[in-house]
Amino acid sequence: MPNDTLTITDNRTGKTYEVPIADDTIRAIDLRQIKVAADDFGLMTYDPGFLNTASCKSRITFIDGDKGILEYRGYPIAQLAEQSSFLEVCLLLRKGELPKAAELAQWTAEVTANAGVQASIEKLTDGFQSDAHPMGMFIASAAALATLYPESKKISDLEVRNNAFRQLVAKVPTIAALGYRHAKGLPFVQPDPELSYAGNFLNMMFATPGVKYKPNPALERAMDILFTLHADHEQNCSTSTMRVVGSAQTDPYTSLAAAAAALYGPLHGGANEAVLTMLAKIGTKDNIPEFITRVKAGEGKLMGFGHRVYKNYDPRAGIIKRAADEVFAVTGKNPALDIAIELERIALEDEYFVKRKLYPNVDFYSGIIYEAMGFPTAMFTVLFAIGRTIGWMSQWEELVLDADQKIARPRQIFLGPRRLDYVPMDQRA
Ligand code: ACO
Repeated sequence: MPNDTLTITDNRTGKTYEVPIADDTIRAIDLRQIKVAADDFGLMTYDPGFLNTASCKSRITFIDGDKGILEYRGYPIAQLAEQSSFLEVCLLLRKGELPKAAELAQWTAEVTANAGVQASIEKLTDGFQSDAHPMGMFIASAAALATLYPESKKISDLEVRNNAFRQLVAKVPTIAALGYRHAKGLPFVQPDPELSYAGNFLNMMFATPGVKYKPNPALERAMDILFTLHADHEQNCSTSTMRVVGSAQTDPYTSLAAAAAALYGPLHGGANEAVLTMLAKIGTKDNIPEFITRVKAGEGKLMGFGHRVYKNYDPRAGIIKRAADEVFAVTGKNPALDIAIELERIALEDEYFVKRKLYPNVDFYSGIIYEAMGFPTAMFTVLFAIGRTIGWMSQWEELVLDADQKIARPRQIFLGPRRLDYVPMDQRA
């Protein structure tokens, strides 16, 4: 009869402890009983970057990094990308089940009806310099929405939460497009309620004001798939940020602005922008071997490669590569694609990348599609944020409803000096 416990012997004292194991996990707090002296703080775990620490129990997204599996609420990402739609995936992620037709129709109507933003958000965007990074504008606008929905602080009220989901999913494409149009010095295009979620986003980005925009169906579908692929990815850096900020009972708009700030970093959602910059620097296929040699020598990274959890092909990268063919059939091939394909081929045969299990991640090909569709590089992370908004919100609501959760507050190992006496300025060496 197996015993679901772990026996630990502290060789400092010779004492033995038995701690319960549940879900292949021990509770870190159970280690605190392990002490050398009665007034000891107790044993802690040291885990920078949370490589082996579960911060929550979740039922939303499952990843098996070794097998390259990604499932939203149990459904494989490839089936959702091929057969579902982004707005349906939003309901699935939040509620845990595929919606019935009437529920999806109502949600679609709510999102469509709330796509417009308040004049103050337009004014806020206008206040930025024209060379402001669109992620800076996106983060500021998301935080500003909190001031327009002050009741959103009542996080235990279901109706208030429903409205936050509706407003955020509806408005993130609009604030993203506002930032883009502002940077370009173009007038803002109002949302078109006759278009789909993805189609309307393309409209707000690329339409000529006053001229009815008809999205190309292949590009509209590719955009919808890209939003679906980015919709959630369990406890990554930005989602953990959403949960950490949300654990202080901060409203969801402000928490989402913080999550977007985490996404902005080049090691996270900023990687797709970095991939395009890298491909432009490489310039031609002939320069790839020299570039790889430099990466292996530690002079920079092969951006879009490697992942904290996927140690096999990122399943999203394969779907994006296929979507790319449909986009390029409309837009013509992006010349960066040839360099990317050759770079992938060389890297996947190279001992350095093979040994470290470094494969293309979601960002390796997404930027190439975005560029072909006409998005400037600086918008790539914003596109990621639009898709990820539903994931951040679903994870946030799971936290709000989880009785186990407390305000996030890690411990530290203090290594600095203590008990110094203040030295007046004229006596300092
Ligand atoms: N290029 C070259 N070497 C790499 C790369 C890369 N892209 N990624 C990891 N390595 C090397 C590391 O230098 C390290 O080598 P070492 O063992 O000789 O020291 C080894 O592989 C392990 O890498 P870690 O940095 O420990 O892996 P970690 O899990 O901490 O990092 C990360 C994952 C941040 C994604 C990393 O692979 C990376 O920086 N990739 C490039 C940026 C990128 O594409 N980010 C997007 C991630 S997907 C997303 O956020 C949506």
